[in-house]
This record gives sequence, C-alpha cells and structure tokens, in this order.
Amino acid sequence: MSETVLVTGGAGYIGSHACKALRSAGYTPVTFDNLSTGWEAAVKFGPFEQGDLLDRARLDEVFQKHRPVAVMHFAAFSQVGESMQDPGKYWRNNVIGSLTLVEAAVAAGCLNFVFSSTCATYGDQDNVVLDENTPQFPINSYGASKKAIEDILVNFEQAYGLKSVIFRYFNVAGCDPDAEVGEFHQPETHLIPLMLDAIAGKRDALTIFGTDYETPDGTCIRDYVHVCDLVDAHVLGLKWLEGDKGSRVFNLGTGSGFSVREVVDESRAVTNMEVPIVEGARRAGDCTKLVSGSERAVTELGWRPERSTLPLMIADAWKWHQTGHYDK
Ligand code: UFG
Repeated sequence: MSETVLVTGGAGYIGSHACKALRSAGYTPVTFDNLSTGWEAAVKFGPFEQGDLLDRARLDEVFQKHRPVAVMHFAAFSQVGESMQDPGKYWRNNVIGSLTLVEAAVAAGCLNFVFSSTCATYGDQDNVVLDENTPQFPINSYGASKKAIEDILVNFEQAYGLKSVIFRYFNVAGCDPDAEVGEFHQPETHLIPLMLDAIAGKRDALTIFGTDYETPDGTCIRDYVHVCDLVDAHVLGLKWLEGDKGSRVFNLGTGSGFSVREVVDESRAVTNMEVPIVEGARRAGDCTKLVSGSERAVTELGWRPERSTLPLMIADAWKWHQTGHYDK
C-alpha cells in the first residue's frame, strides 16, 4: 500500500496540482479542504475529506483514519488586498488554522511538514534579488500571516521535533498540460488568467496596473514559476524530509523577471490573438520588482524547472482556459 500524504487545500489551484504530482510519485494524496475557495471536482487523485482547519476534532479524525507520513499545507487565504481590509480573516484562518493543524500533526506523531509560504514575507524590497537569507519584513497581513506560520514551525521543531520544508513561492502560473486540473479562482485577481479572459472576450480588457514604475517599460516585474515545476519541488521536499536532512527553507522562482507588458506581448504571440488592454493606475500594495534568488532549490534539492518559460506557462494556461472550468 502506498504512503499517504495529507494535502490541505488539495481542492485548490496549487494543491490539486500537488495531488497529481504526489500520485505520480507513488503516494496517496488525501485532500483536506473546506471548499471555501476550492472545488470538489478538482479532487481527482486520492480521497477527499471535507473539513476546516479550525476544527481540531475533525483533523484528529482524519489523521487517525489515514495515518499520513507527512502534511503538505496549502490551505490559506492568499489575496493581499483583501488581507489589508480584513486582517482578522487572515490571522484566524491562516495562522490559527495552521497552528491547529500543526498541533494535530504532532499529536498524531506525523512530524514531516511541507509548507507553502510566499515571497510576500520579504516585503517591499524593490530591486533586490531575494534569497532565503534576505530578512523578512512583510508589509501586508497576508505576508505577516505566512511569516507567523514559519515562526510556529521553528518553535514546534524546538519543542517536538517537527521537521519542515518551507517553500516561499514567487508568482505561480500555468496549469497541468493535460488540463486535468487548472487555475480557477472566484473572484480571479491574477494577471495571466485575467488576461486570457480578456483575450477570449470574457471581459472587456485587461487593466495594466501602473505604467510609471522604475522599470525599463514602466510596468511591474515578477518572477513566474510553472505550477507543475513548483509542485515537483514539493515532492523533492518530501523526499528531503524522508531522507532526514532536517528543516530547510527554499525559494521557488526561476531568477528571471518579466514585466506586465512582456507577459501581454507573449500572450499575444502564444494565442495569436489580440490582447485588449487599458492602462490604469497602480494597485495598492504592489512592489516594483520581485525576483527570486533561487539557486538553493536547484543545488540542494536537485530541482530542475522544466516548464517555467513564459510561452509554456501561457500556452498551458490557455489550453486549460479553453477546456472549461469546474462547477461548484
Ligand atoms: N496585474 C495587472 N493587472 C491585473 C492583474 C495584475 O497589471 O489585472 C499586475 C500586477 O500589478 C502585478 C502583476 O500583474 O504587477 C502580477 O500580479 P498578480 O496579481 O498576478 O500577482 P501578485 O504579484 O500581485 O501576487 C502574487 C500572489 C500573492 C503573493 C504575491 C507575492 O497572488 O498571493 O504574488 O508577490 F503574495
């Protein structure tokens, strides 16, 4: 019988891709999700346990039933803007929810933990290449909530020997090239899916948020990583923990930045269709440039991103976009 991994948020965008990667690697992914932003139709690669991170009894039940060898923890709210308007929602779900999960894992003797953190924990350090040693000064509640969970994991290692691999994501993009699972947020706030909606005529235009940044073309620069490469790193992280190599933090980005205009141009080339755009004001909270120093994952984990080129990320997202979405 294959080993089981508890995947919180397994019905979401990244979690569902992780379940597929785990299944391919020979594990049984058990999805734990409250479906607040996820889709039951995305749970295709292992059992589904509906539940909320704040429900300790439900977590205990699921740990007892499935006896996972590790937890992969994706379940979180992740919108920067919303986190500033409703910080309680982020601290309660992300931090108290994660604390409850970590306590349940320790109580069940499940001491391997893979956590999805974010480059938003670094804060607004424009024009700096951010590596894992860069000090973290989050500037929004979302980043602060993820930083707090990182701190919890450090303390739980000291007290109980919980081992963690923490991944700080840059901008995750693209979809499963087989289009079995994909990116579907409601509401959608991310650049590439919004742009594909505009190309497909599902919205009038893509608004470019700010054209007066101090970058070569005036628009923000981000480091985009393909979701399939990202989840492959998680499987490597799991093996790292199983190999008893200790807790470690890894950035997940490619080290290359692309501006919003470059993403628009590439989308035009990939789809061979016009991209209706409108130039708008800056969006509050956006950093000028976020690019990862990402050598550690390559040298230490042996991570080899294979699909994280802009044309492939857009082509995979476009394929999914055309094949339909989940229904609640
Ligand atoms: N953008 C637009 N128009 C849009 C949407 C986005 O111009 O309609 C721009 C943004 O201003 C930004 C870039 O496209 O410059 C990327 O924006 P996304 O919203 O796709 O991604 P973010 O960089 O804002 O956020 C992502 C994750 C967050 C995470 C953050 C860390 O969604 O969860 O990276 O930087 F915190």
